Amino acid sequence: MTSSVTQPADIREVAVIGLGLMGSGIAELVGRSGRRVVAIEINQTFLDQGMARLRASLDKAVSRGKLTDTARDEILARIRPTDDIPAGVASADLVIEAIPERMELKRTLFDQLDEACRADAILATNTSSLSITEIAGATRYPPRVAGLHFFNPAPVMKLVEVISTVLTSPETAETLALLSRDLRKTPVQVSDRAGFIVNALLVPYLNHAVRLLETAQATREDIDKAATAGLGLPMGPLTLLDLVGLDTSLAVLETVQAEFGGTRYMPAPLLRKLCDARLFGRKSGRGFYDYRHGTPSAAAEGHHLASPPPPAEVALIRDPDGLLDELASEINAAGISVSPQPSPQTGLVIVAADPRHRVLDAALAVGHPADVVGIHLVDVADGKPRLAELVLPDVTAAGTAAKAAALAAKLGLDTVTSRDRPGFLTAALAYPQFNDAVRMFQDGFASPADIDIAMMLGCGYPRGPLQMLDEAGPAHVVSVLEAMHAATGDPAFTPVPLLAEYATAGTRFRS
Ligand SMILES: NC(=O)c1ccc[n+]([C@@H]2O[C@H](COP(=O)([O-])OP(=O)(O)OC[C@H]3O[C@@H](n4cnc5c(N)ncnc54)[C@H](O)[C@@H]3O)[C@@H](O)[C@H]2O)c1
Repeated sequence: MTSSVTQPADIREVAVIGLGLMGSGIAELVGRSGRRVVAIEINQTFLDQGMARLRASLDKAVSRGKLTDTARDEILARIRPTDDIPAGVASADLVIEAIPERMELKRTLFDQLDEACRADAILATNTSSLSITEIAGATRYPPRVAGLHFFNPAPVMKLVEVISTVLTSPETAETLALLSRDLRKTPVQVSDRAGFIVNALLVPYLNHAVRLLETAQATREDIDKAATAGLGLPMGPLTLLDLVGLDTSLAVLETVQAEFGGTRYMPAPLLRKLCDARLFGRKSGRGFYDYRHGTPSAAAEGHHLASPPPPAEVALIRDPDGLLDELASEINAAGISVSPQPSPQTGLVIVAADPRHRVLDAALAVGHPADVVGIHLVDVADGKPRLAELVLPDVTAAGTAAKAAALAAKLGLDTVTSRDRPGFLTAALAYPQFNDAVRMFQDGFASPADIDIAMMLGCGYPRGPLQMLDEAGPAHVVSVLEAMHAATGDPAFTPVPLLAEYATAGTRFRS
């Protein structure tokens, strides 16, 4: 039985079960670390396919000059393929299971492993969404069972989630974390909850992006651009959904929904409809974008308001908490005169908008609301605004919106256009996720540092959600979430108690 932490050097033989997409990558990774690998499949055909995939990956590394012929041959010599599960796992120090995502298959296998493995072997599952506690329940000694969640492609992605059930021994989790580091990965520790860290934070955010689209808050291109230009993420949420697969994302969402309930995880009707229509994303040729004629980058750039020449004069008024001075100096610097007094003759009235407030109220106070547009400059890490959200109350005239777009172009700002609802686009996408991240910490599932590391290494975030939350300011995030809650009545936006406490106390999540 595993009652002490096993050092990585003492894990000499690893059995990897299931040589599909993930298992072949995991077997390669472990083989590269100098350990013996037993590569296990259900029959010779799948074994051959899995080994061919593994070999092809190593050959690619050789052709790129990243591995010598000799090193490849040595790695392959350490990998012993077999379709005999009991014999294959008998002498393993660690078993990593990567068979299909079906509970009955996994439970049957773990029951078998319980019999066939050494009593002190650790049993790990690479499941993405199943309950590890339930898988462990199929064994007689669950303290040695844990999750070891690699990301695709396993040899490349740096993150590993080490998942403990209520029964996993601390030694088992620690051994897996040490081993992950030895495999040159970065482990994060999380308790067994649906979605672990990455999927539990990512998938509701993707779902919310679909809601923004289906409620016509913005175009698909602008929702994606708000995430890339506004939040610095590598890819917009709708593009990412197309890449991951809408069906895969829906399945994860349903798992998280089943465990936690609530509106936050309720699949957006549009997501379900696209799945019903078998528009799963890239793999089926269409999802939110159309890939049948190549990557739709040109189409993605295609949506913009027709731009008339920029106005010579604008009136600039402030929303109660908006960033008037910053915007005024930007406009002045572009040679456009700024009047603080809007009149029907000025033509364009800009409200320095704030995601906590509707622009409409300021627009109505002006007296000629059709001429009014909100502009919200989105702060990014280095403090320089890159992106402007053009916020259009429904009373804004189309010509006014076009003039505002021309003004933003003259100022050298990238723009997205949002309907006038609290949060606009960037905050509406990001802040509910920050709230989810705080809830995860508040409820004791993972530490703030591990939450941030997981999102940086698993999803390419430039900074983790809790660090971004600190930068935005907990008090500001709370008031935007409260405004979103007030406008929609959706309890998903209610700030979690710990976030409200930190906002009141002025505490930061990452020191
Ligand atoms: N695909 C991903 O991006 C990804 C990422 C992280 C984790 N995961 C998880 O990893 C696991 C495997 O996913 P995948 O995408 O590699 O699946 P896959 O379908 O590509 O591979 C599964 C392999 O397991 C084999 N298999 C089935 N039953 C078996 C058994 N009883 N014994 C031995 N082999 C068996 C199959 O023949 C197949 O080759 C799943 O739990 C999945 O949720 C997948």
